[in-house]
Amino acid sequence: MDVKRVGIVGTGSFVPEHVLTNFDLEKMVDTTDEWIRTRTGIVERHVASRETSSSDLGVEAARQALKDSAIDPKEIDLIITATITPDMFFPSTACLIQSRLDVPHHIPSFDLSAACSGFVYALEVGRQFILNGTYKTILVVACDTLSKITDWKDRSTCVLLADGAGSAILKEVKGDFGILSTHLAADGRGQDLLHMPGGGSRYPATHETVERGLHFLKMKGNELFKIGVRLMARITRQALSECGLTEEDVSLLIMHQANIRILEAVAKRLEIPMEKVFVNIHKYGNTSAASCAIALDEAVREDRIKEGDIIVLCTMGAGLTWAAMVIRWGGIQMKGSR
Ligand SMILES: CC(C)(COP(=O)(O)OP(=O)(O)OC[C@H]1O[C@@H](n2cnc3c(N)ncnc32)[C@H](O)[C@@H]1OP(=O)(O)O)[C@@H](O)C(=O)NCCC(=O)NCCS
Repeated sequence: MDVKRVGIVGTGSFVPEHVLTNFDLEKMVDTTDEWIRTRTGIVERHVASRETSSSDLGVEAARQALKDSAIDPKEIDLIITATITPDMFFPSTACLIQSRLDVPHHIPSFDLSAACSGFVYALEVGRQFILNGTYKTILVVACDTLSKITDWKDRSTCVLLADGAGSAILKEVKGDFGILSTHLAADGRGQDLLHMPGGGSRYPATHETVERGLHFLKMKGNELFKIGVRLMARITRQALSECGLTEEDVSLLIMHQANIRILEAVAKRLEIPMEKVFVNIHKYGNTSAASCAIALDEAVREDRIKEGDIIVLCTMGAGLTWAAMVIRWGGIQMKGSR
């Protein structure tokens, strides 16, 4: 009997127009283009305007994914949005996105909070719904505007964070294609390494929480760096071995773009050459949940992925959360043109 497989049948991405360069940041905090480039690999990043929210970016990415898949939006029967910078606490950003798309206005739509791992978490939740027969065509949107929770006076974080959105459509695919295995993981004991303490039910927004800067993202970058390298390498190996593959089978490794040195260190541990690692951090910085989704869409657009290729998506972020997904690309017709 054939195994039921779920694949990605369309991708899209969108970043806000405004580009903030390292030279712009030199004028804002005590940093240099040289430090940012050599310590992080980032050259520039896109930052949303005051009026633009995460759902605005998500809607554009979703429209592109729909066009790319050539699927009638009326076929979408579930929307999952991965974000840690929702437009507001409620309604969910997924509901806001649904309201602006030409999808049926009764389909379930919900947000998922897994920080930078959100895209892979959302793909896996969607995959399970298709495997168990509940839904057939799922729109996943990963969108974040980290610039809105950035302390623009803190040089250790503001040079890293940025805005963007990526999207993918999930559907059953034929043959031995599609998602072969996924590993999701979390360790809540790492909560203090990366968090935004204020604005929730622990420290509801008050003048005092704002004065103390609790509404800004806080990060222990150095510790995260070391842990992240270890966790991402390990979970990639686990996901590959679960479907009987090894690092040598990987055609393209698409990781959360947090720091070029993290990408290089993970690739080294896995003995995967950098030619097989997708890198776009120089253009976008760290866009949280959107990062891996934008990278996947760009890899498709740039013809870095061929039918039959083994693609690994690998992420790590606040929670701590981390995840890896192995996909054999193909079994689909991407009919749309963009
Ligand atoms: C944040 C990060 C770039 C810092 O790089 P690092 O090499 O670890 O640097 P350190 O934090 O050890 O700081 C080294 C020095 O640079 C300084 N520094 C920090 N940011 C700076 C900046 N923007 N410009 C210039 N100097 C800076 C520090 O103050 C420190 O100075 P000191 O030695 O005089 O105390 C890096 O740790 C990182 O990318 N971490 C992981 C981030 C991550 O994965 N985040 C999210 C996961 S979703």
